[in-house]
Amino acid sequence: MKVLLTGCDGYIGVRMGNVLLERGHDVTGLDSGFHRVGWLYESAERRPQVITRDTRAVTVDDLRGYDALVHLAEVSNDPVGELNQDVTYKINHEGSLRLAKLAKEAGIERFIHMSSCSVYGAAGEQPSREGDPTVPLTSYAKCKVLIEQEVSPLADDTFSPTFMRNATAYGASPRQRFDLVVNDLAAGAFLNKEIRMASDGTPWRPFVHILDISHAVACVLDAPRDVIHNEIFNVGSDRSNYQVRQIAEIIGDLVPGCNVVFGDSSADKRNYRADFTKIHEQLPGFECAWDVERGAKDLLDIFERIGFNEELYQFRGHTRIRQIKHLLDTAQIDDDFFWL
Ligand SMILES: NC(=O)c1ccc[n+]([C@@H]2O[C@H](COP(=O)([O-])OP(=O)(O)OC[C@H]3O[C@@H](n4cnc5c(N)ncnc54)[C@H](O)[C@@H]3O)[C@@H](O)[C@H]2O)c1
Repeated sequence: MKVLLTGCDGYIGVRMGNVLLERGHDVTGLDSGFHRVGWLYESAERRPQVITRDTRAVTVDDLRGYDALVHLAEVSNDPVGELNQDVTYKINHEGSLRLAKLAKEAGIERFIHMSSCSVYGAAGEQPSREGDPTVPLTSYAKCKVLIEQEVSPLADDTFSPTFMRNATAYGASPRQRFDLVVNDLAAGAFLNKEIRMASDGTPWRPFVHILDISHAVACVLDAPRDVIHNEIFNVGSDRSNYQVRQIAEIIGDLVPGCNVVFGDSSADKRNYRADFTKIHEQLPGFECAWDVERGAKDLLDIFERIGFNEELYQFRGHTRIRQIKHLLDTAQIDDDFFWL
């Protein structure tokens, strides 16, 4: 298939590009390049040719000739979303809706959107299924719901959108993010032999490895159309739901002498579990190959090999909000996040 992968230069995209190329797809990437400065390690994985462009500047002619659009390019976390809610809506809601409409106009048959299990917000301990009510708590999560609601009616005989509600991602990527809990705790354990959490770690959250997310997208591209047409999938497995304190304990156990300390705050209102039955029953070939223990071991192994240190950990290129603030403070992007 001829695939356009937006967000190919991000944390997930840089590994998904390789997965899709290895599956034999003809992949082109598109990315504004906000986070290219962050590069933790080299590897032999392949990367597609990249068009440097903002999704909001893409035209219908740019989209002609592709069979599928895999759309990752959005403001990707809650703190950046809250930093500038207006631009979050402009990129993640208006921008993604416009892109879906253009994709349909250009004759692209499959549109795969990276949604998030964070749409379940504060649903509590009962695992949420795709048909359950959503409770999005942040602009980021609200935009994910809006895209599902507003792109879904575009579905017809020529256009099949699929919405992937990914659990919180983890795992090694050259374009590493340390603003994700598993990656952050693994870094802290490696560098300081300590995991110190302000929270009591009781909230539930589902987690999924970035290669399992990439595999899920590859399965959607391969699946018969009726299986994925206008469907929502929670992406993860029945091993994906953890209390945050379990994550800390798993990672702490992997680092000899690591001290794990919990606080007493329960400030984080995000508390949800997801049910992953549908993706396993309905999407041919999908299975998760990773769990948090394996993903954290892989990260620790890479940290060891590359001589990971505090400077790399603190580098703005590995934390989304720091890099965006830097680009704003140094007048490299404007208030709408367009390059100056
Ligand atoms: N990481 C997670 O835990 C997780 C969980 C669920 C869903 N997702 C979704 O998956 C996608 C990828 O996440 P990620 O962790 O790789 O994020 P990321 O920030 O590392 O990557 C996003 C990429 O999109 C690009 N981008 C952002 N706005 C753009 C625009 N207007 N035009 C062109 N490019 C733009 C950025 O430059 C970046 O390379 C996002 O949509 C995110 O919301 C991520």
